[in-house]
Amino acid sequence: MKLFLTLLISFFSLLANNKVYPYAPSEDCKACHSNIYNEFTESMHANATPQKDPIHASVWEKHPQNIKQSRYGCGKCHTPAANNLDKMKTKGEKALPLAENKTHQAGISCAYCHRIESIALHKKHNTNIMSAKEKNYFGTLKNHTESPYHGIQTENNIHMKNGNVCIGCHSHKMNKHGLNVCSTNIDNELNGANCVSCHMPKVSGSISNMHKTDKHTFHGFAGSHFHSNMLTPYVDISLLRQIDNFIVNIDNRTSHALLLHPLRQAVLKVSVERGGKRITLKEITFERVIGHNGKPAMPWKASTTLKDSMLKANEKRAILYDFKIQNGDKVTVVLGWFLVNPKALKPLQLEHNKPATEFHEFKKQSFNF
Ligand code: HEC
Ligand code: HEC
Ligand code: HEC
Ligand code: HEC
Ligand code: HEC
Repeated sequence: MKLFLTLLISFFSLLANNKVYPYAPSEDCKACHSNIYNEFTESMHANATPQKDPIHASVWEKHPQNIKQSRYGCGKCHTPAANNLDKMKTKGEKALPLAENKTHQAGISCAYCHRIESIALHKKHNTNIMSAKEKNYFGTLKNHTESPYHGIQTENNIHMKNGNVCIGCHSHKMNKHGLNVCSTNIDNELNGANCVSCHMPKVSGSISNMHKTDKHTFHGFAGSHFHSNMLTPYVDISLLRQIDNFIVNIDNRTSHALLLHPLRQAVLKVSVERGGKRITLKEITFERVIGHNGKPAMPWKASTTLKDSMLKANEKRAILYDFKIQNGDKVTVVLGWFLVNPKALKPLQLEHNKPATEFHEFKKQSFNF
């Protein structure tokens, strides 16, 4: 019986290995969904692999799973369309992300995301339950034309609309020390907004080249790398002038912390223009530093949160500046971030990497007095 089972299992894994594309390649969608395809290829979902994302690569390079096991467990979320995903997820196997394997470099592909049927909730991280039906995609369009290439399932999948489809990968990630390294508030309904409505707004351009529509759902996934300008309406900045000082108020009307990944550092920069001169005031940083034994540590070594000054979900933060505003002053407030906290650049050897080192301006506002 045992032998039979082993044979059966190896037979199935052989079948799985022979299958070059477990999910239709995203290039297949290009001919009919060109707007969506073009946005997607520029997004972090299409570029989530060590070969395409230098920040991911530098962390992966140091990771014990890479050094000691040669097994890319990250694939569960970073290369979920990989044809050897099972091996990547299994302890004892060897399976690295390869530049020449197209299913690895597909990232979080079109067909993968559109075949997520439901989400299993787990303590360490959630798991996506995939539909077995190839080329039959979940969608939300009420009235759609038929697609000659694929079937469309719009029933019983409210999760495409309400953002549940995102939480298989984005909800939380707990390391072996029981520390939640990265967590998004998944009670994501805030004033009717959710992951999909905020990060995938409707933009102009047709859904498909076969049936013209005015708008389609943005597939460039606005976030901290790209298109953050689409998300500025969710963070308000105001200024309150007082007799001897002033207060900058930041209202984070987001259902989760302003930034989520522990590598990030947000910065508030305030300057005053007075009589043709610029006066720079103190810089405020917002960050969540994880560590071990009182020192900052890599996500797999960290056992605790050392400091958390990040702007929380739906938080209003008031910051006092001990500076007296005069009539004629122009005060400029800039909220932005570094994708990699400047203190982590050296240990990650990212000092010369542009996306990791450049200051990303999110919102800038000036106040004239
Ligand atoms: C449970 C799903 C999941 C797993 C497993 C996972 N990640 Fe991620 N990772 C994410 C998500 C979601 C993001 C985006 C988070 C954000 O932008 O706040 C991310 C972002 C990152 C980033 C930031 C990249 C950038 O460009 O700024 C790094 C670095 C990273 N992951 C490294 C890893 C490594 C290394 C592994 C494996 C050892 C791994 N991740 C495993 C879900 C996962
Ligand atoms: C031969 C053309 C064609 C190709 C190729 C194609 N589609 Fe479509 N697809 C359509 C048409 C037509 C619609 C319906 C659009 C409408 O009604 O405006 C559609 C709709 C969809 C929808 C929306 C379903 C809904 O009801 O919300 C999804 C999701 C989708 N396609 C995914 C894909 C993916 C993923 C690929 C590539 C793996 C792909 N399509 C390739 C023609 C195509
Ligand atoms: C299969 C796992 C997976 C699913 C499902 C998923 N994501 Fe992601 N997402 C990732 C990973 C991994 C990254 C980080 C890639 C990197 O930085 O290298 C990411 C990055 C992002 C980013 C950051 C983009 C940026 O510019 O920094 C946003 C925003 C995002 N995802 C939104 C969503 C939304 C909205 C959904 C649901 C519609 C979703 N994701 C579903 C894995 C996933
Ligand atoms: C991370 C998950 C994710 C990925 C990757 C993804 N989609 Fe979508 N897609 C969605 C969600 C969620 C919706 C529903 C949006 C809504 O209801 O507002 C959607 C909607 C659509 C629609 C319906 C039309 C519309 O504009 O509302 C089409 C067509 C589509 N996607 C095709 C694609 C194609 C083609 C790709 C790759 C080039 C792709 N998707 C990649 C999550 C994804
Ligand atoms: C009310 C709007 C809103 C909702 C709802 C929302 N987000 Fe965000 N999200 C934002 C804003 C604003 C930012 C910060 C600006 C940016 O990254 O461009 C952000 C940033 C992010 C980032 C990048 C964080 C980083 O550290 O790089 C990811 C990933 C993300 N959101 C995923 C999600 C997921 C998944 C959901 C649903 C569970 C969700 N968001 C719900 C508005 C929203």
